[in-house]
Amino acid sequence: MEIDDFVVAPRSKRALRRYKDKDLYETVEEVFDTETVMAVYYLMRRGIIDRLYGVVSSGKEARVYWAKKGNEDLAVKIYLTSTAEFKKGMMKYILGDPRFENISRRSTKQLIYAWTRKEFRNLKRLYKIGVRVPKPIFVFKNILVMEFIGKDGIRAPLLKEVANNLELDELERILDIVLRYIRLAYCEARLVHADLSEYNIMVYNDEPVIIDVSQAIDINHPNAQDFLLHDIATILRFFEKLGLKVPLVKEVYELVVNTCKKRN
Ligand SMILES: Nc1ncnc2c1ncn2[C@@H]1O[C@H](COP(=O)(O)OP(=O)(O)OP(=O)(O)O)[C@@H](O)[C@H]1O
Ligand SMILES: [Mg+2]
Repeated sequence: MEIDDFVVAPRSKRALRRYKDKDLYETVEEVFDTETVMAVYYLMRRGIIDRLYGVVSSGKEARVYWAKKGNEDLAVKIYLTSTAEFKKGMMKYILGDPRFENISRRSTKQLIYAWTRKEFRNLKRLYKIGVRVPKPIFVFKNILVMEFIGKDGIRAPLLKEVANNLELDELERILDIVLRYIRLAYCEARLVHADLSEYNIMVYNDEPVIIDVSQAIDINHPNAQDFLLHDIATILRFFEKLGLKVPLVKEVYELVVNTCKKRN
């Protein structure tokens, strides 16, 4: 059985035990350690999710699954706990972040759990102040449960995937919203996304949804300004290539930073 095929729906504790040796265990085992599989069961026992369906996306560091709680679609992002590459990739964001003190003394697993909690906290901060992100629901170990962006298990497209089919005025509207979100995140949530691009924005019901906020950093992080400039530049470049007239990076940057200064 392929991991992409599995469907798990234990209804009772006994059924849960039966499933242990079947679908979920066999399939998830290939990718995840026992602790992760047990963590999925914990979420089912707690009633956070009822069923876990197939993979929506499998990246280097995490897999995203479609899940259900009653009639509600959910997205379950599970970080892989055994990649050295992951640690390397995270370090540039973690070093200098006061929320990650003493991190070098922690094991990789603990580091990944902290990383998962960080994504959850960042989602909460952004959601609260009105940046459209998947609504955060629950976090446990290396598993993050959030609102599913899409319908009936079909995820919404990434900005990268739909941009070519959109009219210029539609693109302009989306760019405006994304720039507003950058400013809101910076001023109100005091966060810089730090990996913002057409790959980390979904388009759902004609609205941009910002995803993948694990690496988002506090505006007091020593590299926050560089990351902010980089985010703005990436976004503007993408829209410019599609034929849109865009403002200068520096202009947008100053607008973001100065609007906040005035208010604080
Ligand atoms: N809440 C969600 N609802 C639906 N699909 C989602 C959701 N979050 C993420 N996805 C899908 O999963 C993919 C990977 O998610 P995300 O970008 O958060 O993880 P990642 O670790 O950066 O993976 P990648 O390296 O593939 O970008 C997204 O590109 C998107 O297609
Ligand atoms: Mg991503």
